[in-house]
Amino acid sequence: MDSGLENVIAAETMLSDVKGDMGELIIKGRYVEKLAATMAYEDMAHLLWHSAFEALPTPQELGRRLGQARQEAFEQLADRAPDTTIIQSLRLGWAAEQDDESLETAIHLAAGGFVFTAAAVRLAKGLAPIAPDPSLSSSADFLRMVSGRTPDSKQARALDAYLVTVSDHGLNASTFAARVVSSTRAGLTSAVIGGLSALKGPLHGGAPGPVLDMFDEIGEVENAEVWIDMALARGDRLMGFGHRVYRARDPRADALKNAAGRLPGTAGRLAFAEHIEREVLGKLRLKYPNRPLETNVEFYTAVLLEALEIPREAFTAVFACGLVLGWIAHAREQISEGRIVRPKSIYRGPVPELAEA
Ligand code: ACO
Repeated sequence: MDSGLENVIAAETMLSDVKGDMGELIIKGRYVEKLAATMAYEDMAHLLWHSAFEALPTPQELGRRLGQARQEAFEQLADRAPDTTIIQSLRLGWAAEQDDESLETAIHLAAGGFVFTAAAVRLAKGLAPIAPDPSLSSSADFLRMVSGRTPDSKQARALDAYLVTVSDHGLNASTFAARVVSSTRAGLTSAVIGGLSALKGPLHGGAPGPVLDMFDEIGEVENAEVWIDMALARGDRLMGFGHRVYRARDPRADALKNAAGRLPGTAGRLAFAEHIEREVLGKLRLKYPNRPLETNVEFYTAVLLEALEIPREAFTAVFACGLVLGWIAHAREQISEGRIVRPKSIYRGPVPELAEA
């Protein structure tokens, strides 16, 4: 029995390799740092879906169809109650998509993620959603749909770097959930909603918002040491640190730190984040000398998305907009495997009375 399935190999994949001991992530044969520095979201969709779908169009045509699908998603957009969270709005938007295993559905899910998230951000602020501009890239259009301003190329590039970096990561909890759902042949939409539901937890994709809450509570660098000591003494988990697989630094942390550093005006916030990071790592080493706990992807996600003026309540939904590419690729891979996921459990409950037998 392995309750966290830590040592269980549950799938063969052509998509990504998380090398936990070495702190490396390889996606489709390329290091994540290189992908983050060079690829746009549309290129990444093409790379991840290449083996998943027959007759995948060129990256340019895929980009055109994603833009068209954003417009279609906007037409089906429903106003949400003001107290609906951004994740709920994204889940509701995705839930209305057709639920089959086609490329068309995959494109609608990927495109719709940006539209539903941006609209939910605007509605939460009491602002009207902004219609997509299909001539823009997914990243540029998302930032525009959130803020109402067309971003400059550095901002769009930074969001591309983020979305590419988080687009796939082995059998993390949400990807595994997506594979389990797809193994029943429920459809890509069901698989993606399963993935999103797993992602939202604070131990997985819900951490970057709380990273900023931690920054706020610490306030000044002088307070960091006492704040961290108290949090660890309470038994709190410090958001943005630790990982099930990585025993070395999560390579995505540096990819995102670099991307944030290329944005103007981030130097002060980065210096603050680096200070907190050093303090936390030092304290975690003291508390867990035998368990390497390093910075994970969520820590610098928080700094990067904050610099792009995305509200912290939307961070997990934006994460989902990147990871949906991987969920879909994994779902398709699981479907081609053709076997329903069905592990066993050990019964520890009461045994029937002898008399009942
Ligand atoms: N802060 C404080 N203590 C921690 C942290 C942390 N961030 N991470 C692990 N620990 C502690 C655990 O409580 C455990 O202590 P215990 O033995 O006294 O119970 C010990 O370190 C060992 O924990 P692990 O077995 O390494 O943790 P696990 O693999 O179960 O969990 C997880 C991994 C969920 C990521 C954990 O490190 C955590 O909760 N981190 C904070 C939340 C976070 O940043 N999540 C995002 C992860 S990245 C992603 O999902 C995209």
